[in-house]
Parts: sequence; structure tokens; C-alpha cells
Amino acid sequence: EAKLAGDREVLASRLSVNGTEKSSVPPPSTEGWRVNPALVLMIRKDILRFLDAERDVSVVKSSLKPGDTIHYVLDRHRTLNISRTLHNLLPEVSPLKNRRFKTCAVVGNSGILLNSGCGREIDSHDFIIRCNLAPLKEFAEDVGLRSDFTTMNPSVIHRVYGGLQKESDREKFVHRLIALNDSVLWIPAFMVKGGEKHVEVVNNFILKQGLHLRMAYPSLRLFHAVRGYWLTNKVNIKRPSTGLLMYTLATRFCDEIHLYGFWPFPRDTQGNPVKYHYYDMLKYRYLSNAAPHRMPLEFKTLKALHYKGALKLTTSKCT
Ligand code: CTP
Repeated sequence: EAKLAGDREVLASRLSVNGTEKSSVPPPSTEGWRVNPALVLMIRKDILRFLDAERDVSVVKSSLKPGDTIHYVLDRHRTLNISRTLHNLLPEVSPLKNRRFKTCAVVGNSGILLNSGCGREIDSHDFIIRCNLAPLKEFAEDVGLRSDFTTMNPSVIHRVYGGLQKESDREKFVHRLIALNDSVLWIPAFMVKGGEKHVEVVNNFILKQGLHLRMAYPSLRLFHAVRGYWLTNKVNIKRPSTGLLMYTLATRFCDEIHLYGFWPFPRDTQGNPVKYHYYDMLKYRYLSNAAPHRMPLEFKTLKALHYKGALKLTTSKCT
């Protein structure tokens, strides 16, 4: 108990990192890393005071009716009408109900994954979470192929799939969805105004194609609850990144959480350039304090948790 109370204090002070890390920091060493089960339990319990991933991971059908009006989480003065299509796809029960896993992988999208050879290790975890429908097939050796839970910000439809206007984009999209193989597709549909057209197009598309995906749309309280947890631990974030959101959710149902593809820095420790995403040409966007995400601060926090045995952060090659 005393040791745990000490850990809690160290954790709180270690996590209170102010300012932005501008340059790359030494990567966390994975040598001799061991999970700290007592700390994992403590964090799970603490996070449960703010949110319950089983419940908040998705709105369920019985909680809304078609035609209901809801306020966007980050645009409180703007509203969304729940369409029949969206209501149709809402799950009856939480897609994470009663799920428990020994080991989970949360895979971020940093270019640090390129030439990592981590695909096999990532695929060996019991439950695999991936972000923003990132491509896998062409990068399988470094990122793996399996996925149990995939997030998709509505903006991806516009940025990667041309708003599904052209037949070739629709085809590319359907292939990517088929590769998800009955797993969970998680779309934050209630965050900000602007993405609703894309969400509607995607939902219609999924129904029309008869795809067997398990859809999830995060609850209205999830985002603020996650932010609240980290703020309480003095991690001063404006808007949690998808990767941090996923780690926070995973604490509910994973005993060991392994993170890959988290490296929000343009260079590695040898000074070699690192792509922002392993799969596209997007430029680094979240290095200043004014940006909506504070990925370097999140990284520093995750690194502190790595050294305490709360999670394992891999930024090097897998052996
Ligand atoms: N990530 C990282 N370093 C990078 C790129 C991504 O650590 N160079 C992590 C972040 O935690 C991020 C996750 O990988 O949330 C997934 O990447 P991306 O799809 O870019 O994340 P989003 O947070 O959804 O970004 P945005 O809100 O800009 O769409």
C-alpha cells in the first residue's frame, strides 16, 4: 500500500511536465522492461473515476432515436440530427462489453515504424487497436496486418478517399473496410461540426455494401472525461490525440498495453528524418503549444509511464 501510494505520488510528479519538447528525446529503453501489475490496476481504477471504456466507447441504440438532436462535443452551439442510417448502425451493446485481454497493442501512425520490423510482434498481441484507417498491407512487415479496433476521424474520408466521390476512391475504401474483417470501426461522429456529411456517406456505404463491421461512435462524455483524467494528473492537454484516447480506453480491459508508432518528432536520435505518418506525406503539425494536440507532451507522459511499468513504449526496431 505504502509503495503504491509512493508510486502514485511519483507518477503525479513525473507526469507534471510543462512546456513542449521541441527536439527528439532519448527513446525509452525496452531492455529489462517489466509490467507493474499493481500500478496498472491503480491507473485503471483512477481512470474509472472519470470514464468507463465499456460504456463510453460507444453510444448504444437504446440511448437515441432517429431525429434526436445532440450538441457537438467541441462545438456546443452547433447541433446534429441523428439520422436513420446512423441509428441503424449504433450497436445494441458496447462492443467492449466484458472484454478482457492479457496483452494489447495500440498502434500510432508515426514514421518511426518504417523499417522497424515490428509487424509480427504487433500481430502477436491479443487485441490490436489502430488509428485512422492507416494502410497495413503495403507495410505489413513493420506494422502488422491484424486489427480488432480501428478508429477513423471523419476527415479521413475527405483527405484520403476524396469524399468518396469517385468510383476508384469508393473501391479503395471498400477494400480497406473489407480488410477490417468484422472488427470494430470507431468513428468520433459527435466531436465537431463539419464531418457529418462524411459520416453519413460512410454509414450509407457500409449499409449498402452489407459490410459486417461492428460500428462504434464514442459517447458525448468520453472526450472530456479523458481530458479530465489527464488534467487531474497535471498533464496539460487541450485535446487528447487519438493515440492517447486509445491508451486511456485500453487501460479498462488490457493487463499489458504495448504502444508502437508513437514518435511525434521529425528526427530520430541519430538525427535521421522521421516521417510524420508512415504511409503519407503529411507534415508535422503538432509541435507548437498553440496546436490542438500536444503530442510531444503526451509522449513525455507515456515515456514516464513506460519507465514505471504501466505500459511499454516501443520506438526502436523489434527483434
Ligand atoms: N502519433 C505519434 N507521432 C506521430 C504521429 C502520430 O505519436 N508522428 C500518434 C498520436 O498519438 C496519434 C496517433 O499516433 O494520435 C495516430 O496518428 P494520427 O492518425 O495522425 O492521429 P490523430 O490524433 O487522429 O490526428 P488528427 O487529430 O490530426 O487527425
